[in-house]
Amino acid sequence: MIKVKGITKRFGRLKAVNQVSFEVKEGELFGLVGPDGAGKTTLMRVISSLLNPEEGEVRVFGLTAKEREKQKDGEASNFGYMPQRFSLYGDLTVLENLLFFGSMYQLQKDIIIQRSEEILELTNLIQFKNRFADQLSGGMKQKLALTCALMTRPKLLILDEPTYGVDPESRKEFWKILYQLNGDGMTILVSTPYMDEAELCTRLAFMNEGKFKALDTPTGLKDTFAYQVWEVVSEAKDPELFKDVRGIYDSSLYGDKYRLILDINMEAGMLIEKQLENKGFAPLRLQRAVPSMEDVFVMIAGGEG
Ligand SMILES: Nc1ncnc2c1ncn2[C@@H]1O[C@H](COP(=O)(O)OP(=O)(O)OP(=O)(O)O)[C@@H](O)[C@H]1O
Ligand SMILES: [Mg+2]
Repeated sequence: MIKVKGITKRFGRLKAVNQVSFEVKEGELFGLVGPDGAGKTTLMRVISSLLNPEEGEVRVFGLTAKEREKQKDGEASNFGYMPQRFSLYGDLTVLENLLFFGSMYQLQKDIIIQRSEEILELTNLIQFKNRFADQLSGGMKQKLALTCALMTRPKLLILDEPTYGVDPESRKEFWKILYQLNGDGMTILVSTPYMDEAELCTRLAFMNEGKFKALDTPTGLKDTFAYQVWEVVSEAKDPELFKDVRGIYDSSLYGDKYRLILDINMEAGMLIEKQLENKGFAPLRLQRAVPSMEDVFVMIAGGEG
């Protein structure tokens, strides 16, 4: 569905996207995960042919941007794109926004209205159809933006951080809709900074500094994680307590609990106890934990940095 080969996009001297190649197959819900400035938006804009790359080739539905432009039957190869900063018209109602976006795609008014009702039903916005967009909550605004992107009934949907800054409950609901669309056969490429969402993708790429650092299924990424993770509860509250200890690669303090990523070959229990003892503490609880997606990304991001 999407084939990206050796894409490089520069802004001045900065390579925002640096030699990226990958493929999104039909029916996938592919995640693009990475921190701020990783190059996710730039890559999505290149894929959507809003930006021209200096190097490489993008094919969507097997066609280059030029070939798609020439195509008579645009419908067959159309895709929906929801940009990161989507502008809705605050002084128009939900339905009026849809009428506006539909008319931009040159759809007929009766088709727009029929489709709007359908999609608003799907995104649970139907009871708000006469509300001004300005009066929607953050989560609802994002759902309206998604509704607009669905107006042309695309086979492929490209969503750039659609749930950024949205509350957890609304994020869950948004993903339920994505699952439903994906279940109905829509291929989805979505970027996110959230690890719980990364976990929900069929495959995902972790992007950092313009490059893909890893690409696999969520399970595949965790299975190849070659470290051990431990949780430690003690009376210590110093976030730096496990810094610079040989064999401990990462430590974070959440409340009264440390989460540590250690060398797979270390006698972890002994190492942790010794470090606590050195600082005058005893462990209250010490146990090995299952690696999370967050752990995986911490090590991928830190591994080459
Ligand atoms: N139009 C532009 N002109 C100059 N530099 C740009 C432009 N767009 C992006 N950049 C730079 O390219 C890099 C990648 O930016 P991009 O927006 O693609 O990252 P991102 O992964 O989408 O980040 P975020 O999570 O913050 O949205 C950043 O260093 C950014 O400052
Ligand atoms: Mg972005």
